[in-house]
Parts: sequence; C-alpha cells; structure tokens
Amino acid sequence: MLILKNVPLNHKNNIAIFASGAGSNAKKIIEHFKKHSSVTIALIVSNKADAGVLQIAKESGIPSLIIEKERFFRGDAYLSELNAAQINFIVLAGFLWKIPSALIVAYPNKIINIHPALLPKYGGKGMYGHFVHEAVIDSKEKESGITIHYVDDKYDHGNIIFQTTCPVLPNDTPDDLANRIHILEHEHYPKIVEQCLQG
Ligand code: GRF
Repeated sequence: MLILKNVPLNHKNNIAIFASGAGSNAKKIIEHFKKHSSVTIALIVSNKADAGVLQIAKESGIPSLIIEKERFFRGDAYLSELNAAQINFIVLAGFLWKIPSALIVAYPNKIINIHPALLPKYGGKGMYGHFVHEAVIDSKEKESGITIHYVDDKYDHGNIIFQTTCPVLPNDTPDDLANRIHILEHEHYPKIVEQCLQG
C-alpha cells in the first residue's frame, strides 16, 4: 500500500474536500481559503456524478474527481490521485461513504468530518441528513448542534475537535432545524479546518 509522506501541516497544505451533495459547506471552505497564502483547496472528491458540489468545484476552478465503490473500498482508495495532487489533509463535508482503512492509515489524524448533531448522540450508520434532525425532534431534545471530529474506522466516532449548540424550537420541522444547523456549520467549519492545519 502507498503511504504518504508525513508533510508537516504548518507548511504548504493541499486540502481535498470529499462531498456527496449540495456542497454548501465545501463552498464556504473554498471561499475561506481563496486568498490564503499556505492553504489550497486542491481537489473536490465526490461519489456522485450529479452532486451539486461538482458545479461549485467547476465555478471555482478546482479539479474534481468522481470515485467509484470498487476501487475506493477494495482497491487503492484513490491514493495515487490524492498523492499526485499532493493532498495532505482531507475534509469531509457531507460525504456519505465510510472512509476505508487504507485512507485512514495514509492520513493519520488528517481527516476530519462535520456531523449535524451533538455526537455521540444521533450518529452512526444511517444517521445523515434529515434522519438526524427527525431523530432529534422525535426525542424531544431541547438543543442540537454540530460536531467536528477526526475520522476513524467507525461512523461518526473519532475524537471530537469542536461542538457548538443551537436550540430546537417547539414547532421545528426537520428542515427548520437543518437550516439552523447549516448556519452554525458555515460559521465554524472553515475556521476549525484552519485551526487543525495550524496544529
Ligand atoms: C451537513 O449538514 C453536514 O453536517 C452533513 O452533511 C451536510 C452537508 O451539507 N455531514 P452541504 O452539502 O455542505 O450543504
């Protein structure tokens, strides 16, 4: 297996953003680092050929890579492409596939994820998108929030880097809550990515 060189994070950073959907978080992160002297969003990776995030990549002039299951889970996990783009940090922003151990081994503590709830509650397999917000509302929680965490080989499980909360209001629909959570994500995720790069 190809093991990437351990590039110090405080030097030149090339980030790959992995996303499966609309990509509003990816967009905020791209905007945040647009004029940054030492951080480049170098690659957008998606498992869906029609994901909105690919249009964002195009508009931003960022190369994109569409991946397929067999090679991701049972091949080299696209390490050769990541290596060619000199990627040394990976940001998951609404990426729905589990990260294979080949990638976790190649990027130790250099893959982070954002989850739209307060882990360890409301995480795990199948807990994504509206399923998370429905579960929070059904459980009559008074607050929800976001969790940014390192990625390990279990869903929504690695060490927590950052959490912040927002209220769940009495008549909230899952969409209402999702919108409130998106505002928190857009405010905090780019800054936390930057802090992680600074160590
Ligand atoms: C976010 O709510 C994130 O927490 C979750 O997936 C959603 C992605 O939204 N992991 P977007 O594609 O960035 O708009």
